[in-house]
Amino acid sequence: MPAPAAEHVPGPAPAGPFAARARGLTKAYGAGETTVLALDAVDVDIVRGRFTAVMGPSGSGKSTLMHCLAGLDTVSAGRVWLGETEITGLKDRELTRLRRDRVGFMFQSFNLVPTLNALENITLPLDIAGRRADPRWLDRVVGTLGLRDRLGHRPAQLSGGQQQRVACARALVSRPELIFADEPTGNLDSRAGREVLGFLRGAVDDLGQTVVMVTHDPGAAACSDAVLFLADGRIVDRLERPTARAVLDRMKRLDTGCGPSGECGGPAPGPERG
Ligand SMILES: Nc1ncnc2c1ncn2[C@@H]1O[C@H](COP(=O)(O)OP(=O)(O)OP(=O)(O)O)[C@@H](O)[C@H]1O
Ligand SMILES: [Mg+2]
Repeated sequence: MPAPAAEHVPGPAPAGPFAARARGLTKAYGAGETTVLALDAVDVDIVRGRFTAVMGPSGSGKSTLMHCLAGLDTVSAGRVWLGETEITGLKDRELTRLRRDRVGFMFQSFNLVPTLNALENITLPLDIAGRRADPRWLDRVVGTLGLRDRLGHRPAQLSGGQQQRVACARALVSRPELIFADEPTGNLDSRAGREVLGFLRGAVDDLGQTVVMVTHDPGAAACSDAVLFLADGRIVDRLERPTARAVLDRMKRLDTGCGPSGECGGPAPGPERG
């Protein structure tokens, strides 16, 4: 059983234009015999204003990395910064405020509130923060994601793909600096998937937001500026300016067991403009 790197001594905060950073990020679940080391002393820099994809086999720690970087989960060891603020050791209230103001998160499991309709789910983070949605932006997000005629429906009345689009709209509606998207196209048909990817690409190119996206799809990864490959809780490789073919080649070389599936591939969609 691997021991968590609890003795890891973090170095000074590296300077630079980073939206999020981690040093020695270690996350162990459980205790004793059943301990799972989900992240093993990961160092990562998420460059501001870029689109970073995260790939790796099931169980390699992708979701855990996103949750820890976003301050949604505590770390076992190591340090994490959101922008210039170190979040490891931050009090709950400060962390909640920071997350609310700066971060949008699209969960792998959607995390919609079952008793609220789609529109109420989309605007929930703003409502909690006591802010109002910019109506034009809200309309554009809802229209692009094809949700206009579903706004009054509760999650149970929506298909998996529609629920995913509601989760996407919720992460985008406040125009957060930093968007984490955990397999945002996993339940979408290829057209809806391309629209979501185009939206995320546009968030980076047109609005200067930072996107970190988990995907199993080389075609989706090709929309990003850089791909991080995870295996067994470690970053084992990275690829700059990826093409779908280069991602696929790298996956084969690393034998990470992720992708490739028939529904992915295809050229990267252009950024959503307009
Ligand atoms: N709450 C938890 N309790 C115990 N173990 C957990 C918990 N969450 C995750 N794990 C374990 O940590 C490891 C990493 O899980 P994680 O969800 O980060 O993987 P992933 O790369 O996102 O996988 P997938 O592609 O299937 O979503 C796995 O071995 C998983 O079983
Ligand atoms: Mg996951």
